[in-house]
Amino acid sequence: MTPSWPLPENDPWSTPFAKLLMHKLQLQPGDSVLDIAAGGGIPAFHLAEQVGPQGSVLAIDIHQSQVLRSRSIQGQHLPWLQFEVGDMRFLPPTLPSFNRITGNLSFMFFRPNRFEALSNLVRFLKPGGQIVLTFPSLGTFDSLWNLVDEEMKQRNLVKERKALAEYIEERPSANQAKQWLEELGLEQVEVTEWPLEIFTRSGRDFLEHPLLRGGFLDDIYECFEDQNLANEFMEELSQDTDRFTPLLAQRCAMSGFVPASK
Ligand SMILES: C[S@@+](CC[C@H](N)C(=O)[O-])C[C@H]1O[C@@H](n2cnc3c(N)ncnc32)[C@H](O)[C@@H]1O
Repeated sequence: MTPSWPLPENDPWSTPFAKLLMHKLQLQPGDSVLDIAAGGGIPAFHLAEQVGPQGSVLAIDIHQSQVLRSRSIQGQHLPWLQFEVGDMRFLPPTLPSFNRITGNLSFMFFRPNRFEALSNLVRFLKPGGQIVLTFPSLGTFDSLWNLVDEEMKQRNLVKERKALAEYIEERPSANQAKQWLEELGLEQVEVTEWPLEIFTRSGRDFLEHPLLRGGFLDDIYECFEDQNLANEFMEELSQDTDRFTPLLAQRCAMSGFVPASK
């Protein structure tokens, strides 16, 4: 039986973002696609199935372990899909240009110079080509950050509070994304945000939440020099999740087209 490659239904983070990406993306069989921050292949496998054997998908990720994992899932399937190691911020000038550039959960990793990285990337689009990137935009988990800030204030944790403010300030916003796409001369620019609720219980369920630990929660720990203090602070916070739930992420998709006559 020929396998099919839908977006995995059991992934509560990547798939909701990828669904929004696919909704914004105008894709034709035969298109050439560059998928950046490809990770485990969401949505690269699905894209490859959509463009078919007349098309191509080059899926890049900075981490070799991710590329090897995706190649092992791929096996002999979809030979027009290629996983390679690469840094989306510094692509080699020898790379060809593409009809479409996609990146699910990617734009937050364009730092430190997001505009420059976006501008470099758009150069690899053919005339009439479309770029669609998704990311959790500014506003994501604000209820949590507000409570953390409030608690830090109560405890007079001045340095930690400053680090938190810098971290929040550094998150990309939907408005910024729109402005940059327009500044780059793209057309039909659309930047959309949809809330996504992340469910959590209190205590260890929250502290070891698969979506939050190794990502957003680690960012709070990093605001503390003293990790014992961070552990104690977070333990206390985790006891009463009612104070910051519902926990809402802002699912943001940014899309634009290079003018056809460029
Ligand atoms: C949140 S994951 C998203 C993976 C996949 N697109 C998905 O939706 O499941 C982000 C991926 O971006 C990769 N990444 C981070 N910085 C990168 C860079 N500068 N260039 C290419 N990939 C990068 C990470 O290794 C990680 O696999």
